[in-house]
Amino acid sequence: MCEPRYFDVRYAINPWMDTETPVDLPLAREQWQSLVQAYRDHGHTVELVAPVAGLPDMVFAANAAVVMDGRVFGSSFHAPERRLESVEYETWFKTAGYEVHRPGSVCEGEGDLVPAGRFLLAGTGFRTQPAAHREAQEFFGRPTISLQLVDPRFYHLDTALFYLGEEGGEGDGGAGGENIAYYPAAFSPGSREVLRRLYPRAVVATEADALTFGLNSVSDGRHVFIDPQARDLIGQLADRGYVPVPVDLSEFRKSGGGIKCCTQEIR
Ligand code: ARG
Repeated sequence: MCEPRYFDVRYAINPWMDTETPVDLPLAREQWQSLVQAYRDHGHTVELVAPVAGLPDMVFAANAAVVMDGRVFGSSFHAPERRLESVEYETWFKTAGYEVHRPGSVCEGEGDLVPAGRFLLAGTGFRTQPAAHREAQEFFGRPTISLQLVDPRFYHLDTALFYLGEEGGEGDGGAGGENIAYYPAAFSPGSREVLRRLYPRAVVATEADALTFGLNSVSDGRHVFIDPQARDLIGQLADRGYVPVPVDLSEFRKSGGGIKCCTQEIR
């Protein structure tokens, strides 16, 4: 994770960003700190990368890479304003002893590449290019499912879908009990059909819950770190036996970000 010391909205590269709306930095820092605390309280280890002045979106660590089996597939940002972030995160990974593969086309890490058990779910339409999906499949050797995003408010896959983990003991819930939560209208008809076939027991979010970034959540398979305003989704998750852990990151919505965006998962 990366502390939001220099967080701001200085350019607009998604519909949530308005450079005229001021960011409450003390509040943003407090909210971000509560997410760090929530992870630690639930047994997770948080590593920190140093924030860099002039990189206001660097707090969105998810976009820097996707890591599976300790192998790091780095990023190549769509917006020139964010490109230097890749270098900073690459340095962090290298210092920590990881090799980093730099993708050859636009690829925004876990923003669009969501590890989901046996599959890698991959979004395209606004940022990450389909060529990066193929490159990721080749790199990880995991079946990579390309999904078309169609609503600019959900410009990254991780704003419209998250992986819940494996559901226990209820037989075949689709892809071996692996399950997701998502907002179908963010996807093209064909991609919606793909998700319906793969995850017949998926948790389906309302538009209101998707718009509060309720799907920009992190699940460890039991706890789901989630926006407190995503009421219906929180209820559905609790009914399925997950433990919702509400963490309010509302200040980051001004930049089109939430819990997952602020979190790079090192698998
Ligand atoms: N302002 C950032 C951008 O538009 C937000 C990134 C959010 N990250 C994410 N994983 N969805 O690039």
